[in-house]
Amino acid sequence: MRRSLRTVLAPAVTSLLLATTVVTGSAAPAAAETPDCPWVDSDAPVEQRVQQLLSRMTLDEKLDMVHGAAAPLQFVGPTYAGAISEIPRLCIPQLGLTDGPAGVGNGHTGVTQLPSPMALAASWDDDLATRYGATIGKESRGKGADVALAPTVDLLRDPRAGRSFETLGEDPHLTGELASAQVRGIQGEGVLAQAKHIAAYNQETLRNLPANDAKVDQRTLQEVYLSPVQDVVDAGVASVMCSYNRLNGVHACNNSYLLNQVLKGQFGFEGFVTSDWFATQASHAAANAGMDLQMPGGCHYGPRLRKGINSGAVTTATLDGMVSRILRPMFQFGLFERDGGGSPDDVVTNPDHAELARQVAQQGMTLLKNDDELLPLGEGTGSVAVIGDAAGKDVIGSGGGSPHVIAPRIVTPFEGIADRAEQAGADVAFDDGGNAAKVAADADVAVVAVSKWSTESKDNDDIALSDQDTKLIERTAESNPNTIVVLNTAGPVEMPWIDDVAGVLAAWYPGQEYGTALASVLFGDSEPGGRLPATFPVSQADMPTADHERFPGGSYDEGLGVGYRWYDREGIEPQFPFGFGLSYTTFAYSDVQVRGDGAAGTTVSAEVTNTGDRAGSEVAQLYVTHPESDREPPKRLEGFQRVALEPGESRRVEFELDDRSLAHWDTDGEQWVRSAGDYPVAVGGSSRDLPLESEVSVAETTPVSEPTPPPPPHAPEGDDPALTKAGNVLRCPAESLYSAVLGGISLFGLPPGKQAEETPDNPTADG
Ligand code: BGC
Repeated sequence: MRRSLRTVLAPAVTSLLLATTVVTGSAAPAAAETPDCPWVDSDAPVEQRVQQLLSRMTLDEKLDMVHGAAAPLQFVGPTYAGAISEIPRLCIPQLGLTDGPAGVGNGHTGVTQLPSPMALAASWDDDLATRYGATIGKESRGKGADVALAPTVDLLRDPRAGRSFETLGEDPHLTGELASAQVRGIQGEGVLAQAKHIAAYNQETLRNLPANDAKVDQRTLQEVYLSPVQDVVDAGVASVMCSYNRLNGVHACNNSYLLNQVLKGQFGFEGFVTSDWFATQASHAAANAGMDLQMPGGCHYGPRLRKGINSGAVTTATLDGMVSRILRPMFQFGLFERDGGGSPDDVVTNPDHAELARQVAQQGMTLLKNDDELLPLGEGTGSVAVIGDAAGKDVIGSGGGSPHVIAPRIVTPFEGIADRAEQAGADVAFDDGGNAAKVAADADVAVVAVSKWSTESKDNDDIALSDQDTKLIERTAESNPNTIVVLNTAGPVEMPWIDDVAGVLAAWYPGQEYGTALASVLFGDSEPGGRLPATFPVSQADMPTADHERFPGGSYDEGLGVGYRWYDREGIEPQFPFGFGLSYTTFAYSDVQVRGDGAAGTTVSAEVTNTGDRAGSEVAQLYVTHPESDREPPKRLEGFQRVALEPGESRRVEFELDDRSLAHWDTDGEQWVRSAGDYPVAVGGSSRDLPLESEVSVAETTPVSEPTPPPPPHAPEGDDPALTKAGNVLRCPAESLYSAVLGGISLFGLPPGKQAEETPDNPTADG
């Protein structure tokens, strides 16, 4: 199937791409100290340097700063995803942008294939997320790039979404926290982070076409989809990417409410907004709506924007504002003084980064079922059968599309288990599925690896495993009661076989160190550290977006009922709830305490004790319930903390509330408000296991944000009138063609890129 798609698509894609110029990705030449460029190596405040440089720029130079240099080959690479050209006359270096959220993509080799963001989210670990971001930052910089197109802050609204693996799960708070930690990590390495994609970009079907219109009420938009964006803005993110979809009828990259009023006004974002690739669909209206940088080409923001400036449709002040927003972080991050450094040919992966990949994979692995404490495998395990091509040649380390990263080599589940079993003196057998029943019957324990592919550019039809994988699990389980299923999937899948197997471990897309991490968890060298960042429903029919009108239809009328908030509100029992994950030890919660009146700084704390006989970590979670008049879902996650405990050890975890923790969006006043009333708070180990309860009382209703500012002048809401005219297509034919092709591709997808430089394989007969 995949091979035939490649055959069908290859000629079309190649001919399109041949019409483009490749961004070479060479590092910028050193912006040497020169008397002509007093803003370089200057101690003057950034703002002064920006103004100094701006005053010397011609109109052409300003226009060159607000669009990409060429249409690149980012899916076939290796190349940068895009670049702004250098302007040597003014000592402005090239600005190279590279994907993405799971490590350096765009076809580069010599990089570390990190576990997917979903796997990172399952770790519920800020510190790990900062180190994950730092690894992306280091490797992007090592390749000579200046901007990392990461993190992804889109929520998992429907697990069928092609990019589900790239999200940090279904909850705005968890996403906001982990994305902010990544921003700090990336930017700490001197690389600009670009959070993407705003807003309400939750599907691939018909992307970038007018029909892909997310109809979201303002309250849901603010509380759910934009909340993580506000968090990364607060964390100082340098840039933000606007998305392919329309938002309430207006294209996101052309949406003045979203970009001018909310992002730049309400959130106070000072960096630049970049269009997603080929998502610029207007010239004057986009500039006036607050989009600063067109990527990857320049028809809209080149000749057409010049006309707008000349005719007065776009003011010079607007263009100056756009250029300044790009120059400002370039100064702040020292890009004018950087001496080139990395190059696309450099090998940037190293053992430390591989070790980080292993830690994230291991800590994200989420144990969902473990009958009779079958795991961890002990000394009594004499033999293990490893079953399924997903444990060998069909292993998935990384999902598809722009977040795809090529590993030097993936440690397959079979390799990892075989290595570890040898140390334990256990025998290991492999079967690709043909003889599973026999091979499983002969072993003490059977580990069945199954997978499901997910990629940018195409949504999946369902959340079911293939018939082949389902039968493989059933056949194995019939012949061995000690069957453990390892899920190598983007996110939630249905498990009609759940009662027949002894164990289930969600491994997600775990990156290049998969097998090592898996073996270490199975044999108990480390614990399964993960907790679910997304609800696993019993059936797809239970999902909030099961209705076609909602997905991919674009109606967001489930409102605030996203993820567990839906299951709670509708009283639906999930297969496994949000926040859930088993440990090899047990924990108890006691002594909840609340200090404060609900304002920022209020704390909720509780004692967590490891009541088992192994060391282990728990993710303590705080959920808040609003007074009924707020019309919120039954509970919202407002705090979490990972805590490592020795057997018998207790520790107090403390959650500090911020301004928005108890607030809701008041649509009439267009601001966040904390209502007077009692807010039950609950603490525990998952959204459905909350043994401790208390209450925060708020005495007075208080607005906790300024209202969204009104639209600025020169920012008419709506698309460029010319957009609808054939003339617009004729003026920017390449952009228009690409833009339409993206929608077409979403109907059948793109072939998957290679997983690793060294192709993964099944073990040979002699092991
Ligand atoms: C994706 C972005 C990505 C860009 C550049 C687009 O197709 O939506 O997430 O950063 O390509 O590769």
